[in-house]
Amino acid sequence: MAKKGSAADAMLRRRSHSSVGDEAPSDKELLRAIEVAGTVADHAALRPWRVIAIRGEARERVGRAIAEDSGATGSDAEKLARKPLRAPLLLAVVVSPKPSAKVPDWEQEAVASGVAHALSLLLDEAGWGVMWRTGHYTRSGAVHRAHELAPDERLLGWLYVGSKPEKKSGKRKPVTAKKHLSSL
Ligand SMILES: Cc1cc2nc3c(=O)[nH]c(=O)nc-3n(C[C@H](O)[C@H](O)[C@H](O)COP(=O)(O)O)c2cc1C
Repeated sequence: MAKKGSAADAMLRRRSHSSVGDEAPSDKELLRAIEVAGTVADHAALRPWRVIAIRGEARERVGRAIAEDSGATGSDAEKLARKPLRAPLLLAVVVSPKPSAKVPDWEQEAVASGVAHALSLLLDEAGWGVMWRTGHYTRSGAVHRAHELAPDERLLGWLYVGSKPEKKSGKRKPVTAKKHLSSL
């Protein structure tokens, strides 16, 4: 077992929650979590990412964009438009590439992805229910516009955040480390 309070302990305890309650962290709490999450390894410290907090009515705008991009109509479109309403707070994690002769685009995306993982871990540890979600529409036109992204920016998806449910999560598929480690 991992030592209580260690990074390993926090990682083993973290679970995604597909259903969360109505409370959400304040902007102040978010800023602190982002400050910490932003300390992930970052080649040349480019900070090639940003986070957009989406609350209240803004979630409906994102929902309308998701429906528009899908091309669905009627009740199918309405169902898609309701997706962002599953949590009181969505954190859109954005890859925001910075000009660099030595750090290629894929490295910058890796940094942004690290930030998203760290942020979800920190929020979980702070007692919030979190789930990283995406969809075929994550990088499509209307969704891009709804987030007011610059042309070279793109989404990594959304951390859906709300109060952590009481219900215990099911067992996680085990990680068989031996299958993932080799030597040269
Ligand atoms: C980039 C990314 C996108 C994801 N998108 C979805 C999604 O759209 N829907 C979903 O059910 N799970 C999605 N997941 C997986 C969940 O966030 C979660 O990790 C998974 O359900 C396993 O649960 P656990 O985190 O408790 O191990 C995504 C994970 C990542 C890293």
